[in-house]
Amino acid sequence: MSRAKVFVTRQLPQDILDRLAQHCEIDVWDDFLPPPPDVIQQKIGDLDGILCLLTDQIDSTVIDNAPKLRVISNMAVGYDNIDVTYATEKGIPVGNTPGVLTETSADFAFALLMSVARRIPEAQQYVRDDQWKTWHPTVLSGQDIYGATLGVVGFGRIGQAVARRARGFNMNILVNTRSDNDIIDELGAERVELDELLQRSDYVSLHVPLTDATHHLISHNELKLMKSTAILINTARGGVVDSQALYDALTTNEILAAGLDVTDPEPISIDDPLLTLNNCVVVPHIASASVATRRKMAEMAVDNIIAGLMGGTLPTCVNPRVYK
Ligand code: DGY
Repeated sequence: MSRAKVFVTRQLPQDILDRLAQHCEIDVWDDFLPPPPDVIQQKIGDLDGILCLLTDQIDSTVIDNAPKLRVISNMAVGYDNIDVTYATEKGIPVGNTPGVLTETSADFAFALLMSVARRIPEAQQYVRDDQWKTWHPTVLSGQDIYGATLGVVGFGRIGQAVARRARGFNMNILVNTRSDNDIIDELGAERVELDELLQRSDYVSLHVPLTDATHHLISHNELKLMKSTAILINTARGGVVDSQALYDALTTNEILAAGLDVTDPEPISIDDPLLTLNNCVVVPHIASASVATRRKMAEMAVDNIIAGLMGGTLPTCVNPRVYK
């Protein structure tokens, strides 16, 4: 009997690939950049499984061309790059990598919040530009974090982990979420509607998945509700924020500053006007990028592929309905 075939869309640690290769024939995309869509399209017809990243679009056309596909495993907790509804219709389980990246991503969201608030990237540039001539009472003054109000939009694992960090800074925590959550009370946080959260927060940190409902959740009207001293932090997905509205808000002092780990599109164009603003810090989608966490994500993605090939339930499946 021929061995199952799996396409892995980027190099992963060799020992992890070796473990996968014990179960199937693997084809690993070796480039730094993702495989172009036509490469995925061309390979998919022959595949039993695909281990992909958030940069790979697995849409209905790809799925329609995949008569043998038994498992899609995304090396990310988010899965808006995959048409999960269609995969479910076709009975294909989709795996993701929740949990292992929670604390790393929350560390980063908080680091971004602090570096925007205290203007660390600007300060580094100031030193490199040889502008540091003296200690001055007002130069590079930022915003306080300790005791300020943090609004957390979306209260899944990462949102909660950010709120826990905020407790250590004696912050008042406002939460906007649709789900019931005991942790809100445990953290002494207050659950409020989105408009109220935007009006009252000094910092707004976004932690919702990208769906039709959250696309441009933060646009002109929402930014207008925020304080002129407020800072917006997005480590969720770029599409949650309307970039043009954000640019307008940052250039008309509607809000003070923003920190973006994610943009729309990704990568952001080097000509994007957001990159011209001192009050907008943009980094390249690295919230989960610690060596240990990226390794755990790769391990989990491989576990999902192996389970799918063996006909078992994926350890972390986003569409368990396929098993009903
Ligand atoms: C995810 O996993 O969805 C993050 O955006 C990248 O780690």
